[in-house]
Amino acid sequence: MRDLFDRIHVNKGPLGKWASQAEGYFVFPKLEGPISNRMKFKGKEVITWSVNDYLGLANHPEVREVDAQAATEFGSAYPMGARMMSGHTELHEQLENELAEFVDKESAYLLNFGYQGILSTIDTLVSKDDVIVYDVDAHACIVDGVRLHLGKRFTYKHNDIESLEKNLQRATKVAEQTGGGILVISEGVFGMRGQQGCLKEIVALKEKYNFRFLVDDAHGFGTLGENGKGAGNEQGIQDEIDVYFATFAKSMASTGAFVAADKEIIDYLKYNMRSQMFAKSLQMQLVKGALKRLDMLRTRPQFKAKLWENVNALQDGLKASGFDIGTTQSCVTPVYLKGSIPEAMALVKDLRENYGIFCSIVVYPVIPKGLILLRLIPTATHTLEDVRVTLEAFSGIREKLENGTYKRLSEAVMAAVGDK
Ligand SMILES: Cc1ncc(COP(=O)(O)O)c(C=O)c1O
Repeated sequence: MRDLFDRIHVNKGPLGKWASQAEGYFVFPKLEGPISNRMKFKGKEVITWSVNDYLGLANHPEVREVDAQAATEFGSAYPMGARMMSGHTELHEQLENELAEFVDKESAYLLNFGYQGILSTIDTLVSKDDVIVYDVDAHACIVDGVRLHLGKRFTYKHNDIESLEKNLQRATKVAEQTGGGILVISEGVFGMRGQQGCLKEIVALKEKYNFRFLVDDAHGFGTLGENGKGAGNEQGIQDEIDVYFATFAKSMASTGAFVAADKEIIDYLKYNMRSQMFAKSLQMQLVKGALKRLDMLRTRPQFKAKLWENVNALQDGLKASGFDIGTTQSCVTPVYLKGSIPEAMALVKDLRENYGIFCSIVVYPVIPKGLILLRLIPTATHTLEDVRVTLEAFSGIREKLENGTYKRLSEAVMAAVGDK
């Protein structure tokens, strides 16, 4: 028998093997200064395209004031205990009521984190006799929620209605045998490539198949639909979404999340969802802060309007310069380039050091080998000048990628890891 850690000594994982070259720069970078369009990286100002502060609320003075007041009033402990036991307050309830009303559902329930929250929502909604059918590109938290499921699960090809229908037929056969039901899961906006989930087409299948529909709208909430009510509102089918989920970690620029549905379903979740029953309640600072942020969404359409001005300028500019930005239908702006991981590292270093642009870089295994995905997140704090500078920088790095500059620069990196 071998020691449990033997595997870890030899295999650091597909990303971990790059740690000595990547850490502190490509992964775990330290962005400093107030959250905004321009922050500091290694002491130099960079235009920041990697923060999901879509509406620019993170550092808004009114939001900061409410956060600070709440911290003074309550500290970071209050309330102590799980909601069910000693962690329930009027303000938690008020926030839930306001969130439910905002997303046009009967009822809502707060979650401490989006990740555990949706994982546990999935776990609670299904029993072993039920079948889950979910988009193959679903976020890790959905995948992990499905992993807890003791019954059958099927994936369908990303946003592919024909594939979904085929899998609904398989799921229906299983559910007829087990006496269970079917849960379909999609995202409102797929955060890596920016496509909206085909929510409208999915709910149309309810005419032919019997299923319930859960939507994770992490990136749609605040950015799409009337006043940011989300992807369901944008596509005109919010009523047909049976369980709607969004996190506070993006447009709301905070921590926490919520799930919204008919009252009976939310009541069931309240009494059965393990991540909330056996964990401390969302702290008051976050609850008061979320009430303020929600009010900003409802009453200040100018943030969403500015966000979209920037999104359109950036995406139109990239397309006009011949960049491949895929089929995004949201603020998420991917730029696809061809190259190896070491080339991607050299390119991103150049972008940060010499052009003052900071964006996320995504490589294999998250996307196919040989592709480099630079992912830009416009926010309401960006300016059209930021967009102009970024477009110029992107033309510069594309030329160097194509003329082999990064290949040459990356050879040292390759030699260092001995992975030719
Ligand atoms: C689609 C999606 N769902 C859920 C989450 C998790 O949310 P949180 O950061 O609140 O845990 C994320 C966050 O990255 C996400 O992108």
